[in-house]
Amino acid sequence: MSITRSLLNLIYNRRTIRKFKPADIPEDILHMIVEAGQRAPSYNQAYSFILVSDKEKRRALEEVCGIKYISNASAIIVICSDLNRVNKMFNYLNPNHVLTSNEHPVEVIYSIFETGLATQNMIIAAEVLGFGTALLDCVLVEAEQVAALLELPKGVIPIGLLCIGEKDELPPKRPRWPLHIVFHKNKYREPNSYEIANYVEESSETYDQEGYLMKYAGISMKYKDYFIAKIEKTKEVEKKYEKLSKFLKKAGFKI
Ligand SMILES: Cc1cc2nc3c(=O)[nH]c(=O)nc-3n(C[C@H](O)[C@H](O)[C@H](O)COP(=O)(O)O)c2cc1C
Repeated sequence: MSITRSLLNLIYNRRTIRKFKPADIPEDILHMIVEAGQRAPSYNQAYSFILVSDKEKRRALEEVCGIKYISNASAIIVICSDLNRVNKMFNYLNPNHVLTSNEHPVEVIYSIFETGLATQNMIIAAEVLGFGTALLDCVLVEAEQVAALLELPKGVIPIGLLCIGEKDELPPKRPRWPLHIVFHKNKYREPNSYEIANYVEESSETYDQEGYLMKYAGISMKYKDYFIAKIEKTKEVEKKYEKLSKFLKKAGFKI
């Protein structure tokens, strides 16, 4: 089998892993993973990756996230978008640079986009090396606390938490929209209500067949009901997001 084919096979078959065997990951393996991240397409390399190996900090981070299975991971890396270093590089080049402007949507979008591209390269590199990964959003939701814990300067925001470890489960492949819904030709085609309903019902059923919520969160609930509750615009969520928006804006992430 050609290298291309086997890499495609690995991409098609990757799943998020939430159960890991206790094992150490040597630092040189982590270097290989991060270096793979750095090879992703990038405009300003507006990212930083923070390995949290200090026991106290790791415990604090696990508490902020409130997700049990993080503790099984051999390594946890906080993925950050980093306009701080970009700002310093631009200052060096031209003090009257775009980041000194009140609005700089292009740089903000690029920084988040290229952080994501690098993260996906890291996920695939970990797979190639035989490790499993889970990407979690808790560090973004609790950005202010995480920023304080990791002493992030202004301009650096946590985007995701990448958990890496030896796989201790082989879950089924999780649902995706059918290709013809996400792949458009020449113009945008609106999904119709039947297609939306079909996907929601079928994917929820797949998660229920896996026993997804019980397995990972100990929740006895239909996935669809969980999803309905999760996306609800509550007063609490609105307040939390308002606070998060303020923090992101203060950090220079203004769109
Ligand atoms: C930015 C981002 C944040 C995520 N955060 C979480 C999370 O906090 N908890 C979780 O269970 N899944 C989270 N996910 C989704 C999973 O990582 C996973 O991709 C999804 O359940 C689909 O499963 P699969 O990767 O096995 O196909 C996140 C995904 C992305 C892209």
